Amino acid sequence: MADLSINFAGIKAPNPFWLASAPPTDKAYNVVRAYEAGWGGVVWKTLGEDPAAVNVSSRYSAIYGKNKEVLGFNNIELITDRSLEINLREIEQVKKDWPDRALVVSLMVPCEEESWKYILPLVEATGADGIELNFGCPHGMPERGMGAAVGQVPEYVEMVTRWCKTYSKMPVIVKLTPNITDIRGPARAAYNGGADAVSLINTINSITSIDLDQMVARPIVGGRSTHGGYCGPAVKPIAMNMVAEIARDPATAGIPISGIGGIGSWRDAAEFIALGASSVQVCTAAMLYGFRIVEEMKDGLSRWMDEKGYNSIADFSGKAIPNTTDWKYLDMNYKVIAQIDQDKCIGCGRCYIACEDTSHQSIANLLQDNGTHKYEVKEEECVGCNLCQITCPVTDCITMVPQDTGEPYMNWTQDPRNPFREAS
Ligand SMILES: Cc1cc2nc3c(=O)[nH]c(=O)nc-3n(C[C@H](O)[C@H](O)[C@H](O)COP(=O)(O)O)c2cc1C
Ligand code: SF4
Ligand code: SF4
Repeated sequence: MADLSINFAGIKAPNPFWLASAPPTDKAYNVVRAYEAGWGGVVWKTLGEDPAAVNVSSRYSAIYGKNKEVLGFNNIELITDRSLEINLREIEQVKKDWPDRALVVSLMVPCEEESWKYILPLVEATGADGIELNFGCPHGMPERGMGAAVGQVPEYVEMVTRWCKTYSKMPVIVKLTPNITDIRGPARAAYNGGADAVSLINTINSITSIDLDQMVARPIVGGRSTHGGYCGPAVKPIAMNMVAEIARDPATAGIPISGIGGIGSWRDAAEFIALGASSVQVCTAAMLYGFRIVEEMKDGLSRWMDEKGYNSIADFSGKAIPNTTDWKYLDMNYKVIAQIDQDKCIGCGRCYIACEDTSHQSIANLLQDNGTHKYEVKEEECVGCNLCQITCPVTDCITMVPQDTGEPYMNWTQDPRNPFREAS
């Protein structure tokens, strides 16, 4: 059976599934039940200086799919609203009781050396396995010069990371904000500051919806609102791209990455790991479905790894990275064409409308003698854009079939149609 255990930047855990710093990890009561359910580790809800933060009511909002499933989740919560002393006491006890599980402490204090110098030994004394620097919180805390206000300035990221490496022996994970143009900037800064790992993403600035009667965004706090942090399934593609950007950046090569953002199943986790992560963190899915989702995650990942012959997480971590490249290195001679399985087609015409109105007019709409319509791909016109396949409501009705062009691999830097092609 596949071995799910990991050693992430020196932090050992029986499996790569950690709960992200958030309400699921904000007190011993939650963390203990999460460990009982089987989570390999947790990142404790972000600690700060006393007096503790104060939260508002209400706090969350969401974007829903047609069946009321939550596609995206938004929150305006701050860091822990409990005192430092209570949190540290609970962390120490939990670590003592659960020595085999990872317990990482998330931290956010002012961007001043003295503040870090003060809190780091207190955390280290609890026996926690490591710290995660919350440079990502996008609401409330940046107004106080913390969270994303630090994460958006690579010089600050490097400086604070260096303080943490100077004043503690614990592994330092730098949690990055996605609210930035190029994620590689702060990732390189963390690396240069001596970070042992990075984790990403924190939440994305968002307004999920507007109450058009009250003329206010959600969540509503006494008739007003503010932007929140977006997470859940909707952010996964953004998070995965950012993870891949860091994993394939030579400047940060080899830095351990903890993938976060929209993970709710073993498959989501496997995808992040394939893109270079070696642990994953979950928040929204646990908040919506409870701690027991980890059972399916561990079971599913383990079965899939057995099926594929991967013995450990390291066996497939980063395996999709060599195949993730810049556009200019894609094969200009590769060609696929849409193929409709007439036995599966229900004649809805959606593929035809999509291709006719917005793509390449490559589907013929043929009126049959019995008054029904038949849809056929005009192979010579099809550019293989995938739009019809994406639009089609029937599973596997449209497939994209690779064509044998007889042409060798040729990328844009070699293409004669490129006026700026590189000399061969
Ligand atoms: C209600 C809520 C509170 C959060 N609080 C924190 C926090 O205190 N510290 C932190 O680093 N991230 C915090 N996050 C961000 C999560 O740790 C995580 O990065 C983000 O939600 C993306 O993961 P997900 O899509 O699995 O939710 C919070 C998220 C939510 C929804
Ligand atoms: S793949 Fe694109 S171009 Fe080809 S038939 Fe479908 S929508 Fe049209
Ligand atoms: S969208 Fe799919 S089911 Fe509908 S007509 Fe096209 S191929 Fe048939």
